[in-house]
Amino acid sequence: MTEDARGRVGVEIIGSGMHLPEGTLTNQDLEQLMETSDAWIVKRTGINTRRRADLASGETSSVLATEAMKKALVNAKIEATELDLLLVATMTCDSPTPSVGCVVAHEIGCRDIGAMDINAACSGFLYTISIADAMIKSGAYKTIGVIGVDTITRHIDYSDFGRGAAILFGDGAAAVVLQASDDPEKGMIAHAMHADGGGAKHLFIPSCALDFPEEVEFDERKLNTVQMNGQAVFKFAVTKFQEVISETLEMAGIEADDVDHFVCHQANSRILDSARDRFGIPEEKLLVNIQKYGNTVGGSIPIVYDELMSSGKIKPGQKMMFLAFGAGLTWGSSLWQL
Ligand code: COA
Repeated sequence: MTEDARGRVGVEIIGSGMHLPEGTLTNQDLEQLMETSDAWIVKRTGINTRRRADLASGETSSVLATEAMKKALVNAKIEATELDLLLVATMTCDSPTPSVGCVVAHEIGCRDIGAMDINAACSGFLYTISIADAMIKSGAYKTIGVIGVDTITRHIDYSDFGRGAAILFGDGAAAVVLQASDDPEKGMIAHAMHADGGGAKHLFIPSCALDFPEEVEFDERKLNTVQMNGQAVFKFAVTKFQEVISETLEMAGIEADDVDHFVCHQANSRILDSARDRFGIPEEKLLVNIQKYGNTVGGSIPIVYDELMSSGKIKPGQKMMFLAFGAGLTWGSSLWQL
C-alpha cells in the first residue's frame, strides 16, 4: 500500500462474515409464551422469526463474534496475525470485563494487538466502522477487524409483562475486515454520529431501583430487562433516520439516487418503509431482512452487509450508506465509496 502525492490512503472492506445462533424463536413460539399473535407482530414490525443464543450452554457474544470474525478473515483471505487492531460494537459483553474484543483476539490467534468494545447500542457498528476508517486514514493502522455482536435476548422478559419489547429482538454477529488501500478515494466520504442522553430512558436496561426515571414505576421484574417506550422510540427513529440521510447527502453533495445501497439498522420494517417513501429509495437498494432475524442490535448492520456481499450485489465503485439509530439515544450515518 502506498500513499498518494498528498499523503492520503483509502480504506477498503476486504472481507465479511456472519454467525447466528441455531436456536430460533418464531412468532408462533412467542404465542405460547405470552399474550400476543403472529398477525399483531407482523403488522407492527414485519418480523416472523429471530435467533436466540443458548446462554446456558455458553453461547455468549464472544462466541458468536469469534465465529463471525473467523469467517470474515477467510473471506478476506488474510490471517488473524495480520490484524493490527480489533474493535467490537456490543452492549452485551459476556461479563463487565474482559471485553469481547480481548476474548475474540485471543480465540482467533491475533498478535498482542489492541482490542476493545464500543457501546453505542444499535448504532454501535456504525460508530465503530467510522472510527476504524479514521484510524486507518491517520496512518496509525493498516488492517482493522470490526465486529458487531449482541446477545440481547439475555435481557428480555418472555412473559406478558415484557411482551412490548420481547417480540422485537434477536441475537447475532457479523464482522468485516478493513484495510488501507492505494486508492485514496475509497472509504468513508461523509459521516454523522449523534447522541442525545436526554432520551436515554425511552430505551434502557435498569440494573437497580435508582435507574428508574420518575415516570417509570419501579417493579423488580423490570430489572436487567429491556424497558422501552415503543411509541417514543418509533417517533424518534422515523424522524432522525430521515434527518440523518438528508444531512449526509448534503455533506457529500450527492442525491439519494447516487447511493447504490442503504445498509440500515433493522428495527422495524415500518421505520425502513418511511425512509424509502420519503427519499424514493427502490426496494433493491435497501435490503430488509428483519423478518428472519428481528432486531439484532450491534449485529444488525453487518449482517445486512454480509448478506448483500454474499449474494454478489456489492460491486467496486458503488456508494453505500450505513444508517443506524438506537438506545442512548444514538443515531448516525457513514457514507462509503467502495
Ligand atoms: N402483542 C400484542 N399486543 C401488544 C404487544 C404484543 N407483543 N405489545 C403491546 N401490545 C398491546 C399494548 O398493550 C397496547 O394495548 P392497549 O391499547 O390495550 O393498551 C396495544 O398493543 C398498542 O400498544 P403500542 O405500544 O401503542 O403499540 P405500537 O403500535 O406502538 O407498536 C411497537 C409497538 C413496539 C411495535 C412499536 O411502538 C415500535 O416498533 N416502536 C419502535 C421500537 C424500536 O424500534 N425499538 C428499537 C430501536 S433500536
